[in-house]
Amino acid sequence: MPTLYSPLTIGTRELDNRVIMAPLTRNRANHETDTPEPIMQEYYSQRASAGLIITEATQISPEGKGYIATPGIYKPEHVEAWSKITKAVHDKGGAIFMQLWHVGRISHTSLQPGGQAPLAPSAIAANAQTFIVDGPADTSMPTEITLDGIARTISDYKTAAQNAKDAGFDGVEIHGANGYLIDQFMRDKTNQRTDEYGGSIENRAKFLLEVIGAVTSVWQDNQVGLRLSPTNQFNDMADSDTLSHFSYIIDKLNGYNLAYLHMVEKNMSGEQNPEEDAIIQSLRNKWQGIYIANLDYDRARAEAAVEKGEADAIAFGKLFISNPDLPERLARNAPLNEADPTTFYGGGREGYTDYPPLETS
Ligand code: PHB
Repeated sequence: MPTLYSPLTIGTRELDNRVIMAPLTRNRANHETDTPEPIMQEYYSQRASAGLIITEATQISPEGKGYIATPGIYKPEHVEAWSKITKAVHDKGGAIFMQLWHVGRISHTSLQPGGQAPLAPSAIAANAQTFIVDGPADTSMPTEITLDGIARTISDYKTAAQNAKDAGFDGVEIHGANGYLIDQFMRDKTNQRTDEYGGSIENRAKFLLEVIGAVTSVWQDNQVGLRLSPTNQFNDMADSDTLSHFSYIIDKLNGYNLAYLHMVEKNMSGEQNPEEDAIIQSLRNKWQGIYIANLDYDRARAEAAVEKGEADAIAFGKLFISNPDLPERLARNAPLNEADPTTFYGGGREGYTDYPPLETS
């Protein structure tokens, strides 16, 4: 029986352990060019002992940006900067996937090209906040994306996937979670379209499946992971029948040979009720591939989940912010550094690259 510390093959890589670094928005890219800053090399290489690093959410296009200082993967200088990061991680024996992101309506006109409105499946504003140059701000009213806009966006995913390949990543994770563009297409609170991308779940899943098609035209299926969060209400999300709609989606996903399904199992906006836990359980049982579980796992729950076969691996977020050597600390049951939430988003090295590894703390 595998444990949290057993190897796991994902795509072309054998991971040393099943302690995965979750994608974490840290807002330390250049806010004008979306280019990763050199300090990000140090940050990621410090965490290279993770079984797999999944990068922070990275916009596939200027329109895909929704927060200040998040990185991009849509121009040559991005590829060049990310290449240094993948090299730094590989030099230490680590494995790293890039998370491909389009925020859809979770953006602000001041972050969009030409100050335009953000694009979304339907013109429905989110009751949600983002972070702009001046600080926190309500997200802007989006415009309904046209069919041409959809085609262009799918092609942006393909270009970004190719850029990630050129930058030396081991694979990519499609961000289909947390109320961003793909999730906005899937769930019916945010998708009220009357064309072939809206209405039935078959239609609402079409955008996701087209993105998977574009990304797997560049990468092998088993180098492409997907993150979902069916019960998450974060970013003002809801669906009228989560279980049946996402059961359809999982059935479709089982038709590919994807690297993994990465599930945000809880509602980041608040408590999750037992029915929602049961929905996640049911979807997890339906999924036939590698399953990475996420959200608020501690050592005991993570070890038990892998040992009982409930998950193949566990993705840790906050614990990886404050513990660069998290796999070793968990394996040795060593003390954990406390994370400081005031330095999560933006700033410099403080709270970013200055959390000490075990030997020195
Ligand atoms: C955030 O910046 O708050 C954020 C980004 C990506 C996520 C979740 C939250 O998936």
